[in-house]
Amino acid sequence: MKRIGKETNIQALRKISNLFQMTSWEVDELLAMVMNAAKDIVGVKNGSLLLVQDEKTYKLQFYQASGKNMGQLKDIDLPPGVGISGHVAKTGESIVSNDVAKDPRWYQGVSEKMRIPIQSMASFPLNIDKKVIGVVQFLDKVDGTVFNEKNVEILEHFANLMAKFFQVSKSRKLLGEEFGRLKEQYLHRYTIVGESKAIQKCITMAEKVADSKASVLLTGESGTGKELFAHLIHDRSQRQNNPFISVSCGALPASILERELFGHEKGAFTGAETQKIGLFEAANTGTLFLDEIGEMPLDMQVKLLRVVQEESFIRLGGTETIKVDVRLITATNRDLDKEVQEGNFRQDLFYRINVIKMTLPPLREKLEDISDLLTFFIKKHSPENQPVKKPGKGLTSHLMSYAWPGNIREMENSVERAIVLTDGDELLPEAFPFETSQAPIELNVGSTLKQASDLFRRTFISNTLKSTSGNRTKAAQVLDVQRSYLSRLIKELEIK
Ligand SMILES: Nc1ncnc2c1ncn2[C@@H]1O[C@H](COP(=O)(O)OP(=O)(O)O)[C@@H](O)[C@H]1O
Ligand SMILES: [Mg+2]
Repeated sequence: MKRIGKETNIQALRKISNLFQMTSWEVDELLAMVMNAAKDIVGVKNGSLLLVQDEKTYKLQFYQASGKNMGQLKDIDLPPGVGISGHVAKTGESIVSNDVAKDPRWYQGVSEKMRIPIQSMASFPLNIDKKVIGVVQFLDKVDGTVFNEKNVEILEHFANLMAKFFQVSKSRKLLGEEFGRLKEQYLHRYTIVGESKAIQKCITMAEKVADSKASVLLTGESGTGKELFAHLIHDRSQRQNNPFISVSCGALPASILERELFGHEKGAFTGAETQKIGLFEAANTGTLFLDEIGEMPLDMQVKLLRVVQEESFIRLGGTETIKVDVRLITATNRDLDKEVQEGNFRQDLFYRINVIKMTLPPLREKLEDISDLLTFFIKKHSPENQPVKKPGKGLTSHLMSYAWPGNIREMENSVERAIVLTDGDELLPEAFPFETSQAPIELNVGSTLKQASDLFRRTFISNTLKSTSGNRTKAAQVLDVQRSYLSRLIKELEIK
């Protein structure tokens, strides 16, 4: 390594460390400062930075220059591969030329256009990951002397520094974008949309109970947002930075569910080659969300009750009692009261998990939220770098006229699908063809209460009759009305 003169070295270091201490790292500012530092320290007259525009031909374009000529320089169309900087870009080797007029590689075009006579030039490649991304060139010295070895070494340092700035700014930009994406996703993931009284009541309740450790039972039809609310409760609690573990009790056979929840010691059963901690342990200090609790087999219910009561358990095949601090949230779309009455769900466990009960309304009971949900889901499911489509005329009322048996999940899926299938920038009602078996309910504002309730009764009675294969006596039993009354309704409502 060559030595740099002591004075200059210290000066250069001071300048560079000042640059690194800057808090705002705008790459253009930094490049300008490096250029100025080169002027101060080495006494260069002008400097400029060119970036490779085309990786195949190494065509360069001016990106930054000291002095006031940047506007003009940017307009200059440099033929690829020519000139001293063209060579540097192509070969990746620096060139110092102290009499450019005699250098066969010299390209006079720029100097002539700019009317700046040039004597000497030091030109360096900007390397990132062994690839030349640009060239930095320094032109002439203020004192009229040529570039000496010391000067060249310092300028080369500056060129390397500039390349690093580009690299850092590139990764910072990527990181920034990645962070933005994650934030967007995160925000979308747990945002609860809806101004209706029904949903606002649930949000208030969730916030109120978040900080207590009381068990919460979330009920409601499938797709009404039970899991979303479980997240909300966790995120608003003091446990927010601790684990949130979710497990669906319906998806796993009892024996596997037991292992999953409580973990096991090595050799606890055939195939248990290592010790494994269970979800209760994993959720320690956080929240355990047991989804579809109504599907849990009775013998598992006994085991769960014990853990909930004692806040401790033993791993399968183990002897040690493990204490845990877990907040339990459960969810079901079943009517657990009824399941208890029918003996499918243990009453003692029901009392334990049902300390706070929240029932999420079906979408058809909060149709006023459809418009906000539509806007939200369009944004959530719009591909990046594509304009967000707008709801077309009549779309909201079209969506409000449907019963949404699959609730918000169904609506979200249908919006996602409509976005994929729509070419234009407007989502039209046609992009939401509802299954004909799911008879739409004419719930548009503007119908009278009688019209709406007649329509509902017609649909409902007709579906019930279908389910009894047209047997009126059976249908009357299901509907819990007199057979004669049913016959009258069938006539009145013109049910075929
Ligand atoms: N109020 C809401 N606002 C925004 N998205 C919602 C809302 N309710 C439900 N979702 C979305 O609908 C989908 C189904 O919700 P989920 O919580 O899984 O329902 P459930 O557990 O009741 O079946 C999820 O993608 C969820 O984010
Ligand atoms: Mg669910």
